[in-house]
Amino acid sequence: MSQMILILNGPNLNLLGTRQPDVYGKTTLGDIENSCRIRADFQGMKVDFRQSNIEGELVDWLHEVRLSHAGVVINAGAYTHTSIALMDAVSSIELPVVEVHLSNIHAREEFRHQSYISRVAIGQICGFGALSYELALDALAAHIQNS
Ligand code: DQA
Repeated sequence: MSQMILILNGPNLNLLGTRQPDVYGKTTLGDIENSCRIRADFQGMKVDFRQSNIEGELVDWLHEVRLSHAGVVINAGAYTHTSIALMDAVSSIELPVVEVHLSNIHAREEFRHQSYISRVAIGQICGFGALSYELALDALAAHIQNS
């Protein structure tokens, strides 16, 4: 049976395509979901793709998949920079987690340089627009195969 990967998207990412296209590009979240499904299929994995603007819902979903899924790709949006609750949830579920961002958060405002998710993720991929998600899936697949 194919391994299931949760791709979790946080606040405001539902507006991709129209939200600050100069920063985030014109690709919609639906487009990203489609390319992730194709990529995952190529790797023999399946994708469970979700988005919420609610911090607690993101925490609940991380808890929900802890026994059923093989790993997580997370773009926590602005919660990346603020949420100890999400960091603790990632630490609690004992699944490999790859952090992803469309933009290069290190080249932007100072407050975006800090990531609570990075402290507990196996790694971070950022700055490649929608392609960041596919690169994150590749990295997660390689990590799962090697462990
Ligand atoms: C983002 C970067 C965050 O700083 C921002 O709050 C987002 C999107 C990205 O994908 O580049 O909502 O996570």
